[in-house]
Amino acid sequence: MSNEVNSNDLMAICRRRGFLWPSFELYGGVAGMFDYGPLGSNMRNNIVEVWRDIYRGREGFIEIDSETVNPREVFKASGHVDEFADLITYCGGCDSPFRADHLVKPFFDNPDVLSPKELDKAFVEHDVKCPECGGILGPVEEFNLMFKTTIGPGSSRVGYLRPETAQGIFVNYLNLYRYNREKLPLGVIQTGRGYRNEIAPRQGMIRMREFNMMEVELFVDPEDKGWSRFPDIENDMITLVPNTGTESVTMTVGEAVDRKIIANKVLAYFVYTTQQLLVRLGVDPKRLRFRQHLRDEMAHYAMDCWDAEVLLSYGWIEVTGIADRGCWDLSRHAEFSGVELTHFKKFDEPKEMEVDRVKAKHKALGPKFKDKAKAIAEVMEAKTPSDVTDGKLIMDIDGEQITLGNDYFEIVRVLEKVSGERVVPHVIEPSYGLDRIFYSVLEHAFAYDKKENYTVLRLAPEVAPIKAGVFPLMEKDGLDALAMDIYAKIHSPSVEAYYDGSGTIGKRYARMDEIGTPWCITVDYESLEGPDKGTVTIRERDTTCQKRVPADSVPDILRSMLCGKLSFGDL
Ligand code: GLY
Repeated sequence: MSNEVNSNDLMAICRRRGFLWPSFELYGGVAGMFDYGPLGSNMRNNIVEVWRDIYRGREGFIEIDSETVNPREVFKASGHVDEFADLITYCGGCDSPFRADHLVKPFFDNPDVLSPKELDKAFVEHDVKCPECGGILGPVEEFNLMFKTTIGPGSSRVGYLRPETAQGIFVNYLNLYRYNREKLPLGVIQTGRGYRNEIAPRQGMIRMREFNMMEVELFVDPEDKGWSRFPDIENDMITLVPNTGTESVTMTVGEAVDRKIIANKVLAYFVYTTQQLLVRLGVDPKRLRFRQHLRDEMAHYAMDCWDAEVLLSYGWIEVTGIADRGCWDLSRHAEFSGVELTHFKKFDEPKEMEVDRVKAKHKALGPKFKDKAKAIAEVMEAKTPSDVTDGKLIMDIDGEQITLGNDYFEIVRVLEKVSGERVVPHVIEPSYGLDRIFYSVLEHAFAYDKKENYTVLRLAPEVAPIKAGVFPLMEKDGLDALAMDIYAKIHSPSVEAYYDGSGTIGKRYARMDEIGTPWCITVDYESLEGPDKGTVTIRERDTTCQKRVPADSVPDILRSMLCGKLSFGDL
């Protein structure tokens, strides 16, 4: 059996067996778009459930589901309108578009950090021409990756399809913070579609224009980037490629933090959590590493970022980014919306602190506002220095808006007992590319016997789209009725079974092996009479061993093996 994968062979199986289909094939297809078939949908849902089990189950995070079309304001604040672009060049001859950095890959280790001018120069220096027609390439420019639309008729309200689900969490920060009884840490997860109008989608599912994400946004106290469960994992091993070199190093998570390779414990904990998740899903730990972004490679919002990279037939591919987004998102949404997005951090004991306060100038207010002066002074002194804009305060006095300049107030520093302070939470974000993970799991599960022309997907049972095949040896003599009865008892949306009565038994096993079904149940003549009456065989995919078990215990056995309480060897 060989584990070597050719992505074309794997994609052919995915197509034939109903994991994935190129979208809109009826109309010739659209590059970078795929539909999940019945097996693919099942398997993708199973991956999401494992992710939920870790983040909602183990970590106790909460889940939301926000809109995919967002008004422009959201992405102006997030920085995506101005920053979320790839560099594009069009051929002067045939007008084909290309990602400029991809064209100079043979000449640079890290071409995606080059500026448009540097890329123009590189085309000339390395004689790079249009790969389609050999024409001269045009000037490199920015191409924003967001799909633009309008919200409602006309063009007055510009919107974008979200390029990440994360912003739906950030704009709901106040709702989530209140829901969490105003406490940090606050962990929120969201899965759903993201959209990026990629210039040149390629490599099958690796670069898709409409893709599935599983994102986690963890709001933490900026001065406390620890994690209570860090001691549970600090002695476990992890393979890292820090941005200070190109070599990978394997060490404990604790050592990575002590040596300041990963900046803080919470980031390190979720880098390791990502390893746990990917390995549980079936990624081969020997083909998994975590690479730190170079300073100039990082997204506009990130202070630090580690990519989980998986070795695939395409090379090392990023499947997850674990970023420290610092206070970027909440600060920007606060600035653009005018709404404070902070956490009130209570001190253990009230502290005497110097604080700046707005103080009314009664001598100026009195003569001007007479009997209203007292009310104005009260409203004024309830404001904070951050409410002062261009030296002016805007106040609502009995339904009337009054704007007063600093002839009427001053900012004074006073000593006060304060019980806490407002801080802008920082965000730690493990962002999972669901489609890439799905594909990685398939590649790493793939095994092929060339001589027999036989493929098996060694998928983890909790990920496999179908958990059990159920076969009558022959579709007659009551074998089929018993097999159908067992199938009906097993089959549910969470334990999907498949009844198959046609073809040789060997072919039926092979069909199940090819889609990764971990177990097959067969009803034979011994099930109906003789000393083994009432029993059936259960076959394990990876060893092809078979055992006899009582027919009526099959549903319980499968459930116990699925949740890991029982192993095939224990039967
Ligand atoms: N939210 C992370 C990303 O869009 O890649």
